[in-house]
Amino acid sequence: MPVVDVHTHMYPPVYMDLLRARDKVPYVKSFPDDPAAGDRLVILPAEDTTSTSRGRPIGAEYYDVKEKLAFMDRHHIDVSVISLANPWLDWLPSDEAAETARKVNDDVERMCAEHEGRLFGFGTLPLSAPAEQVVEEIDRLSKLPHHRGIVMGTSGLGSGLDDPALDTIYAALEKHGQLVFLHPHYGLPTSVYGDRASDYGHVLPLALGFPLETTIAVARMLLSGVWDRFPKLNVLIAHSGGTLPFLAGRIESCIAHDAHLKKEGKLGKRRDVWDVLKNNIYLDAVIYADVGLKAAIDASGADRLMFGTDHPFFPPLEEDEGEWLSVKLNSQAVRSTFGDDPKNAAAIMGGNAMRVLRLSS
Ligand code: URA
Ligand code: ZN
Repeated sequence: MPVVDVHTHMYPPVYMDLLRARDKVPYVKSFPDDPAAGDRLVILPAEDTTSTSRGRPIGAEYYDVKEKLAFMDRHHIDVSVISLANPWLDWLPSDEAAETARKVNDDVERMCAEHEGRLFGFGTLPLSAPAEQVVEEIDRLSKLPHHRGIVMGTSGLGSGLDDPALDTIYAALEKHGQLVFLHPHYGLPTSVYGDRASDYGHVLPLALGFPLETTIAVARMLLSGVWDRFPKLNVLIAHSGGTLPFLAGRIESCIAHDAHLKKEGKLGKRRDVWDVLKNNIYLDAVIYADVGLKAAIDASGADRLMFGTDHPFFPPLEEDEGEWLSVKLNSQAVRSTFGDDPKNAAAIMGGNAMRVLRLSS
């Protein structure tokens, strides 16, 4: 059974040019006060500081397809489904977004076509553009032979994924059977990390801000009835669902005990989180330990989990020609969960992605 990486990013050359032309987040630049640091990628407001936590080093592994293939070969990954990394096109002026999305998606489609069978893509939507232009790009993406869905963040058209204005977009995604790869970027307000946040590098926003952002976004989709209106809308949630598998019971209990929802008549016919987890949600296996992986499997089923690496993020801190720790932790979690059940392990490492994303055609 092939090994498939469904959570792996690139900034295609077209997008790198945009980042290099900016000096506000998101941007790429080198700093005269610290020439040894080389080019830095600064994408999160919390990392836009004058310290060693200012962004992260960025090299060819972020934009050169040859580096992606070398990483895949080194880690015995047969197929990668590449997605533009955060913050996608969320920050673009409305009148530039649609054309930029077309260019970025065409760039990714070209890379995939040049490496037939090894690369597929999740497309990028021009979410700052008017909704009809977003729908046009969804229609176009559905015809690109190497694209298998779209990647997006939690801001939607600017006010989150429970925004009724997204309905035409959800309808188009559902109509074309396009999987939504939902990925965090914005985290939580930096105030929650306290006065000493910068002492802790990127740990709090990445380990906790990201998964909580995702969990809140999905809870808002559920509460606003997105899956009641779009029962066939499928979403692949990054980082094994944030904390959704762990908190699903609490979410349901809070709904069942909410007097306001009862008064509004919203407790009647509704799809609950367990139903949605088992029928609309797929989870990547980017959780780095078997405890979280088991919760994800319990919540959605072993046939709905898919291996990922988050490459090129989380490289080893020391130069090393071997396996990346971040990859090893994720594959070890699968192995230790399914020690005596190689069939389910193979499904999570690639079989599920081959089936769900139709990767063999
Ligand atoms: N940090 C990011 O900003 N994005 C990722 O996908 C992983 C880490
Ligand atoms: Zn990622």
